[in-house]
Amino acid sequence: MNGGDIAVRIEDVAKVYRLGVREQSSDNLAGVLWNFIRSPVSNFRKYRSLYNFSDLELGAEGEVAGRQEQDNILWALRGVSFSVKVGEVVGIIGGNGAGKSTLLKILSRITPPTRGAVDIHGRVSSLLEVGTGFHPELTGRENVFLNGTILGMRHKEVAQKFDEIVAFSEVEKFLDTPVKRYSSGMRVRLAFAVAAHLEPEVLIVDEVLAVGDAAFQQKCMNKMQDVGREGRTVLFVSHNMPAVTTLCDRVVWLKQGHKVAEGPAQDIVGEYLLAGAVTASHREWRDPATAPSGEFARLRAARIVSERGELIEHCDIRERIGIQMEFEVLKDGEVMLPHFMVKNDTGVVAFVTLDHDPGWYQKPRPAGRYVSTAWIPGNMLNEGPYFVDCSLLTRHPDVVQFDEPETISFAVTGSMEEGTARGDWPGRLAGVVSPALEWSTEYSRD
Ligand SMILES: Nc1ncnc2c1ncn2[C@@H]1O[C@H](COP(=O)(O)OP(=O)(O)O)[C@@H](O)[C@H]1O
Ligand SMILES: [Mg+2]
Repeated sequence: MNGGDIAVRIEDVAKVYRLGVREQSSDNLAGVLWNFIRSPVSNFRKYRSLYNFSDLELGAEGEVAGRQEQDNILWALRGVSFSVKVGEVVGIIGGNGAGKSTLLKILSRITPPTRGAVDIHGRVSSLLEVGTGFHPELTGRENVFLNGTILGMRHKEVAQKFDEIVAFSEVEKFLDTPVKRYSSGMRVRLAFAVAAHLEPEVLIVDEVLAVGDAAFQQKCMNKMQDVGREGRTVLFVSHNMPAVTTLCDRVVWLKQGHKVAEGPAQDIVGEYLLAGAVTASHREWRDPATAPSGEFARLRAARIVSERGELIEHCDIRERIGIQMEFEVLKDGEVMLPHFMVKNDTGVVAFVTLDHDPGWYQKPRPAGRYVSTAWIPGNMLNEGPYFVDCSLLTRHPDVVQFDEPETISFAVTGSMEEGTARGDWPGRLAGVVSPALEWSTEYSRD
């Protein structure tokens, strides 16, 4: 393949919607077919037209002339660029309205970009909103064959895959029923089965894990993992961060139509989880005058560290990490009690931990510099952002030397790998903690 091994290239893509004017989108097969006919995927044609915005003037910065027009339009995407290599599994994350679905629709040629270009090398199969790509009047069986045709497959090729698709979709009994009678769950099952089994070179999946039961979600996850392992390219939108970190090599983060960041899945998901937290993951007070301080002790720094002592901002749920404070004892002779309180983003206290290092426990300390680290084991905190209060007491009597709320923050990123609390459950797990507990079972026949 030429162009290195890039499967998907997105170049400076912008999409403008007119407010109040719902764009005609192809929610049925006829429309999708029409779009494919107009722009066959084998044809790497670039969209540079302004589509139906020819009456708007888009400046170099993408600004639109005319105040009234500005009030009536919405930039669903602005200047988004990135590329995906053949065989890569890339996640697209971001809040509601970030532009994720719009991007996938552009890649699936369901809607053209207002500006910019997309190149896709290979056959694309997409699973977008429920029912997209199905003709409601046709039966499940007929729709499977029509989708195959769209992908450029021959009747015989689809027939070879047919049983596998039906088995995966679990809708055998309704194969000869028009799709309009299907529940949304049944449609998603069949749509995913078709999209994943017709051997697309690029598989595009939007939020499939939001629908269907856990068992089916897990099946979809496994299937996407297989597709990736077979060296095919997957673009995957999800709100399920453990699924994203488990499934994806790389992640692109969108916010209000802009690309905020892209990089290794763990890093970007960690940053995304931390985005609400204004607190940094490490802090240092160089100037003693401004450092939190009492008569006997002064805080110098607080940080999150990996097992190897590196500064980190986020960690995998299975990883052991340290919360660390560096402080100065200003005068000899006091018994000190450094401690941390760890809270989640809703203010729920996960735990409080007090220093009981046998080397210093209940012992008076000489003046000098101390670094105290409390180690949080892996598989303890659930996925999400956390805030750490750093405090220190002198004992007998108890006197607060410093008590710094939300000194630092960090994020735990979830995983669906083995050895976590979730087993093979793909959905979100409630709770501040998520311990991987040992289970035992006793069984008897009666
Ligand atoms: N067909 C449309 N017509 C007008 N506005 C739309 C249309 N589709 C999406 N939008 C708007 O574009 C923005 C991005 O939407 P979308 O791509 O669906 O975001 P996401 O999938 O990340 O939640 C939102 O503000 C949404 O309301
Ligand atoms: Mg969406």
